[in-house]
Amino acid sequence: MIKLHDKYFKPFISAEQIDEAMERLATEIAEDVGDEIPVFVGILNGSFMVVSDFVKKYKNPCEVTFIKLASYEGVKSTEDIQRLIGLTQDLTGRTVIILEDIIDSGNTLAEVHRIFKNENVKSLKIATLFYKPEAYKKDFKLHYVGIEIPNKFIVGYGLDYDGLGRNIPEVYQIKQTQHMTNLVLFGPPGAGKGTQAEFLKTKYNLVHISTGDVFRYNIKNETALGMLAKSYMDKGELVPDQVTIDMLNAEVEKNADANGFIFDGFPRTNAQAESLDKLMDSKDSQINAMIALEVDDEILVERLLGRGKTSGRADDADESIIRNRIKEYYSKTAILKDYYASQNKYFGVDGVGSIEDITVRLSSVIDNL
Ligand code: IMP
Ligand code: MG
Repeated sequence: MIKLHDKYFKPFISAEQIDEAMERLATEIAEDVGDEIPVFVGILNGSFMVVSDFVKKYKNPCEVTFIKLASYEGVKSTEDIQRLIGLTQDLTGRTVIILEDIIDSGNTLAEVHRIFKNENVKSLKIATLFYKPEAYKKDFKLHYVGIEIPNKFIVGYGLDYDGLGRNIPEVYQIKQTQHMTNLVLFGPPGAGKGTQAEFLKTKYNLVHISTGDVFRYNIKNETALGMLAKSYMDKGELVPDQVTIDMLNAEVEKNADANGFIFDGFPRTNAQAESLDKLMDSKDSQINAMIALEVDDEILVERLLGRGKTSGRADDADESIIRNRIKEYYSKTAILKDYYASQNKYFGVDGVGSIEDITVRLSSVIDNL
C-alpha cells in the first residue's frame, strides 16, 4: 500500500502485466499499419511513459510527437474549451495514432477529435493502455485498448493523483474505505479486555469479533464452516487457519457498514496476522493497530484469583494454572508484538487503574490513529 497526499492506494496492475499489454498493442498496431510510417501522438502529461515504452516495442519506422491540451487561462466558460499546444508538424495525409494512458469519460478524446478535424489526416486512430468502460460517455471508436479496468481511480505509470505517482512503474488503485478503524485487541488473561472491548464498541461504533464467540456461534448453528471446524476438533486437530479466516470473513461481510472491527482472540501467529491483513485488504481496508493492555503479573494473579472465588471457574482458582496461562500469553504474543511493531502499529496501554482511566488511555490511542 502507498499513500499519496491524503489517499491510500493498493497494488493493482504489475509492471509485467503492463509490459504484456504494451507488447500486444505494439504488435497489433504494427500489423494494421503495415508499410506506412505512422505518427504516434502522445497526450501529455500522462502518456509520456506509455509513449516511451510503446515506441521501444514498435519495431518499424515511425514518428513520435507530443501534444498537450490546456484550458484557456483566465477564461471562465461552462464548456471547458481547450487549446492544443505543441502540434507544429503538418500531418496532412498521415496516419495518426493517438497514444493515451487512460480513457475515462472520453472528454479529452472529444477534444482531440475536435482539434484533429482540421488537420486533414489520412486516418486518426485511438490507442489507450487503460480504458474504463463504465465511465466512458462518448461514441468515438477506440481502436486499440490495452487493459479494461473498473471505474476506480488509479495512479502510476504516468498517471498522477494531484501531481504525485507518475513515476511509479506499476499501477495502484485507490482504496475506498479508509475511514474504518480496525483494532486487534490483546491482553493477558485478567487484563480487562472484555470490559474495555464493550466500551470501545459503543464509543466508536465498532463490531467486536471475538474468535471464541464466532466459533461457538458457527458450531451451535451448524453452519457449513462450523461443521468443518468441528470435524477437525473432534479428531483432536487444530482448525486450519483458512477455516477461521473464512468465519471471520463472514462476520466482516455481515457488518459491511461498520465503522470498524475489534478482533479479539485472533491473530495468534504470524501466519494468521498475514491472513488477517489479506482479508482486510480484500475489503479495501487494513488493521490500524494492535492494542495490548499491559498489567503486571502479580496484579493479574490477584485479579484472577479474586474472580475465581466469585465465578467458580476452575482455571481461575489455581495459582500455578493462572501463572502458566499468563506465561503462555507472553510467549505466544511476543511474535505478534514484533509483527505489528515493525509496521508501527503496536500500542501498549497501561491496564492498571480504574475502568474509566483505562478507557481514556485506549481512546487516546484510537483518536490518534
Ligand atoms: P477523460 O477525459 O475523462 O477520458 O480522462 C482523461 C484524463 O483524466 C486522463 O488523461 C487523466 O489525466 C485523467 N484520469 C482519468 N482517470 C484517471 C485515473 O484513474 N487516474 C489518474 N488520472 C485519470
Ligand atoms: Mg491523459
